[in-house]
Amino acid sequence: MNTKISTISNLIYLNECESTNTFLYQKLNEDKELQEFITIITDRQNLGRGQKNNKWESKPFKNITFSMLLKPYFIEPKFAFYLNMIISNIIYDCLSKYLIPLNLKIKWPNDIYYNDKKMGGILIENIISDNKIKYSIIGIGINVNQIKFLNKKATSIAIELMEEINLQNIRTELINLLILDFENLKRNFDDNIIKGKYLNNLYRKSENHYFIEKDIKFEGKILGINEYGKLVILNSNGITKTYFSKEIQFI
Ligand code: BTN
Repeated sequence: MNTKISTISNLIYLNECESTNTFLYQKLNEDKELQEFITIITDRQNLGRGQKNNKWESKPFKNITFSMLLKPYFIEPKFAFYLNMIISNIIYDCLSKYLIPLNLKIKWPNDIYYNDKKMGGILIENIISDNKIKYSIIGIGINVNQIKFLNKKATSIAIELMEEINLQNIRTELINLLILDFENLKRNFDDNIIKGKYLNNLYRKSENHYFIEKDIKFEGKILGINEYGKLVILNSNGITKTYFSKEIQFI
């Protein structure tokens, strides 16, 4: 059941919910005039959703799980990947105050990695109308104080720092940074800066690694991303190809 226990300006705290993204989507359907930056926060998400229809598991009261409504009317739908880069960059900035920035990476398209393990993920759901991104629901999950994971490739801030941190503080910092940076971007949108920053922190960029495409393993090097956010890989035969996220797997 969704129990609303507090509503402070544009923050809505739910005691529990299935998914903050789903809740915000339903709320938007009921009220198209919802304010930008309205944020749905919970400490107990029972049916969290990830990218590619995956589940997002998060131990109650241990991690960041929230969704924020943005109105990115200034980004054309064909360049929607800029939004992925913007949000990844903001999370990077927030987490790098707690962790060693060199070990923190953004794994294409928008996972947050630390020391080769996944620390967080972003689920962006855009609502497009009149060739504009009218609304965007930004769902963010960051592993903060959870110590045990079923997935061996997952980590948290507490595992990496070997101590618990204050969950409310980091969640508030991240929400404030998202609002502040996004407001600034409306006045000062520089695609080169956004892309440059994203590429600077991109996981496995310019390194030789193995990937899987259609069940076939190959060696290649990430060169970057193209203007639509497809991953550009140079393979060991000297051929450069671009990929959508469903088309390639990292190993
Ligand atoms: C991924 O890496 O696959 C994306 C994970 C996104 C999880 C967050 S938690 C808050 C919000 N609500 C959801 O159901 N999903 C996102």
